[in-house]
Amino acid sequence: LNTRLLIIGAGGFGREVLAWARDVAAAAGAQAPWTIAGFLDANPRALDGLDVGVPIIGDARAYLPAADDRLICAIGDPSIKLRVCRELEARGARFATIIHPSALIGPHCTIGAGTIFCPRSVCTCDATIGKHVAVNILASIGHDAVVGDGCTLNGHSDVTGHAELGEGVFLGSHAVVMPGGKVGDYARIGAGSVVLRKAPPQTSVMGVPAKRIWSAA
Ligand SMILES: CC(C)(COP(=O)(O)OP(=O)(O)OC[C@H]1O[C@@H](n2cnc3c(N)ncnc32)[C@H](O)[C@@H]1OP(=O)(O)O)[C@@H](O)C(=O)NCCC(=O)NCCS
Repeated sequence: LNTRLLIIGAGGFGREVLAWARDVAAAAGAQAPWTIAGFLDANPRALDGLDVGVPIIGDARAYLPAADDRLICAIGDPSIKLRVCRELEARGARFATIIHPSALIGPHCTIGAGTIFCPRSVCTCDATIGKHVAVNILASIGHDAVVGDGCTLNGHSDVTGHAELGEGVFLGSHAVVMPGGKVGDYARIGAGSVVLRKAPPQTSVMGVPAKRIWSAA
């Protein structure tokens, strides 16, 4: 098998994604879509002292992808993640989609390349999920929801039915977007916060109901 998987980012989430990718490969057996080659990270010492089993191969910013390489991005910050992924795509990179065997994906869901569904995450039905989205452990996406490119849905977060997230949205752990709620591009929703109707783009909102604390504009 010549197709290699490279994980961008050798931080904590990168090591989690390595574990989930190994589970995907084990479940697929002889049909595994790739072998895991290692990480791309600017810090060649990021894995020092850790027993990870695969190396840091290079720096994503300088990496020239081979035709058989498939990438997956494990950077949590949505704007950094999208910038790195788009630079790599401009150099011809192709991205894998990783869906853990314990994730539940219902009918008529569209999932973009480079998206990760972690263990026990859920996408019910008729949802549209963009590219380079991370759906972390136990997070759920309801019917007819739309999740834009580069969103990071942290553990236990809940995008309910007909909710819409723009590009690069960050949902903290246990954040909730109520049914039909709309979150603007690059908004950050605090851990445990509940968006009732709208969160403006490029703001951080938090609390129940979630209120704005800061705006980049
Ligand atoms: C929303 C968030 C991104 C804002 O980060 P920030 O802009 O750096 O904001 P700060 O941490 O400076 O906090 C600003 C204020 O909001 C409060 N606050 C922060 N997060 C809060 C939350 N989730 N709910 C309620 N209040 C919160 C802080 O206490 C602080 O109040 P103060 O100024 O009265 O002291 C961040 O607080 C958050 O919740 N991140 C989620 C992290 C997470 O779930 N990670 C999971 C992956 S490991």
